Amino acid sequence: MSALAKPSIMPGGIILAVLAAVCTFLVALTHSVTAPRIAANEQAFLERSLAPVLEGISYEGALSESTIVIAPPHDLPGNRPVTIYRVYAGGGPVAALFVVTARDGFSGPIRLLVGVDAEGTVTGARVLEHRETPGLGDLIESSKSDWILQFNDRSLTNPPEPAWAIRRDGGDFDQLTGASITPRAVIRAIKETLIYFDRNQAAVFAEANSNE
Ligand SMILES: Cc1cc2nc3c(=O)[nH]c(=O)nc-3n(C[C@H](O)[C@H](O)[C@H](O)COP(=O)(O)O)c2cc1C
Repeated sequence: MSALAKPSIMPGGIILAVLAAVCTFLVALTHSVTAPRIAANEQAFLERSLAPVLEGISYEGALSESTIVIAPPHDLPGNRPVTIYRVYAGGGPVAALFVVTARDGFSGPIRLLVGVDAEGTVTGARVLEHRETPGLGDLIESSKSDWILQFNDRSLTNPPEPAWAIRRDGGDFDQLTGASITPRAVIRAIKETLIYFDRNQAAVFAEANSNE
C-alpha cells in the first residue's frame, strides 16, 4: 500500500455544485425580473403595429384585447391560421383587423394586415412581411411608397367587385411600374378579406376570445 494518500476530489466537486446552483438561481432570477418587461414590450410592439390601419378611428381598450384565430381550411386569403383583432367602442364592434396571406406574390407569400370597419369599409392596410424585389414589388410597403394607402375607405361597392384590379386589367387601382404580379396579389387578398367579412361578420364578432 502506498503511503501517499490520494487527493480527494470532493472539495472541487462541492465548489462546482455550489457554483452551478448559484448560476441556476441567477438565471431564474433574471428571467423572473425581465419576463414581464419583455411581455409588456411585445404587447406594445403589437399595438404599435396594429394602430396604423385604424388611423382617425376611435376605439376602446387595447387592440389585441379581443382576438380570434381562424384555422384553415377557411375562405380567407392564404392557407395559414388567420388572426383577427376585434375592435370595440361604446359596447359595439368598430372594426376587425385581419392578418392574412396573399399567396401569389412574385417571390412568395405576402403577409398583410387589413382593417375593416363594421360597414365593410377598409380602414387601412399594411404589408407586414414579404420577399418582393427592392425597387419593384417592395413599393407595397408604406415606408417605400403610398401605394398601399389607396385601399383606405374602399369597400366591395367602392369600386364594385370586378374593378378590384389594377388599371391595366380594367380595374380601379394603381399598378406598380414593371411589377404587376405583386399588386395583383395584394388587391386580390384585400378583396377576399372584404368578401369574407361581408359573409361572416356576425361570426367574426360573436366568436369567443382566443386570449381567454
Ligand atoms: C429580377 C426580377 C425581379 C422582379 N421582381 C418583381 C416583383 O417584385 N414584383 C413583380 O410584380 N414583378 C417582378 N418582376 C417582373 C415580373 O417578371 C413581370 O415582368 C412583371 O410583374 C410585369 O408583369 P407583366 O408581364 O404582366 O407586365 C421581376 C422581374 C425580374 C427579372
